[in-house]
Amino acid sequence: MPQKATAEAKSNIAFIKYWGNRDAQYRVPLNNSISMNLDHAFTTTTVEFDARLNTDMIRVGDLPANDATRTRVITHLDRVRALAKIETRARVASSNNFPTGTGMASSASAFAALSLATTRAAGLNLDERALSILARQGSGSASRSIPDGFVEWMAGTESGNSYAVSLLPHDFWDLRDVIAIVSTTEKKVGSSDGHGLAQTSHFIDERVRALPLRLQRVRRALFAKNLAMLGPAIEEDAVELHLIAMTSNPPIFYWSPAMVRVIETMRRARADGLAVYFTLDAGPNVHLICEAKDADQVAARAREIADVQNVIVNAPGTGARLIAEHLF
Ligand code: PMV
Repeated sequence: MPQKATAEAKSNIAFIKYWGNRDAQYRVPLNNSISMNLDHAFTTTTVEFDARLNTDMIRVGDLPANDATRTRVITHLDRVRALAKIETRARVASSNNFPTGTGMASSASAFAALSLATTRAAGLNLDERALSILARQGSGSASRSIPDGFVEWMAGTESGNSYAVSLLPHDFWDLRDVIAIVSTTEKKVGSSDGHGLAQTSHFIDERVRALPLRLQRVRRALFAKNLAMLGPAIEEDAVELHLIAMTSNPPIFYWSPAMVRVIETMRRARADGLAVYFTLDAGPNVHLICEAKDADQVAARAREIADVQNVIVNAPGTGARLIAEHLF
């Protein structure tokens, strides 16, 4: 049985957001979501089971994991140990290619890479669906970092039927996500807490009612490579995520003045003829979606904004995969 395995998984940006759970324990979401994997934002993770260990050893970057991360990773290792019917402890090392402290989310790529590396190191060979289901339990959006390219997470009704599938391969459409980094501090309210509060917003039922149509618009726009159709749908959805957050009880303000300044600048650029649309996650950074031919111009416009500290350009990324080079 292989004891050691290394996997690489991309982060992803959601065009239709996951916000709120039907089942919080298993992270079964309220709605389907659609995303694109990001080729320039990935996590590499090596896992080795070792019978000599009496505790799991977990490193993130060059440091031992903090308590919160350690607990979450061990819970995930336990899921795999239960599947593999083993009790052996593991050595885990994980590293992000994007600089830490960029405020970029890493739980999607982290739990996707951890799921693939851990199952292989434990001697399991899960298919894509089972891997997506496993990754989802670590972090919901991680389910979407398992399949290739443009991905839809089928909400399902219970853990066994809530998983992501590839809608289109990464090389289908040369889109770009130009991330304008305006803050590098960690968000004050984690997304797990945000999901828990979503159903306290009066607007959540309206969102769930409106989503089937918006999901259909996004699917159609992707299949037709039609940015003018995709853009308004993803902007609506991003604003709605923040609307739900701000009207939750207690309210969560991920919204920030710098974020609004970037959005305003890009709306002006669009009025001047640049085909760029924004989306937002549960944080202040702005993801600018455009076609490859416009990416340099979008990045240049973003860099001119005083609030923007850094710009990272991503093309559509592949799904999670095993790699031969181990981290230790
Ligand atoms: O996977 P989580 O629990 O970190 O939730 C992700 C939430 C958003 O990034 C805001 C939206 C999404 O669908 O990725």
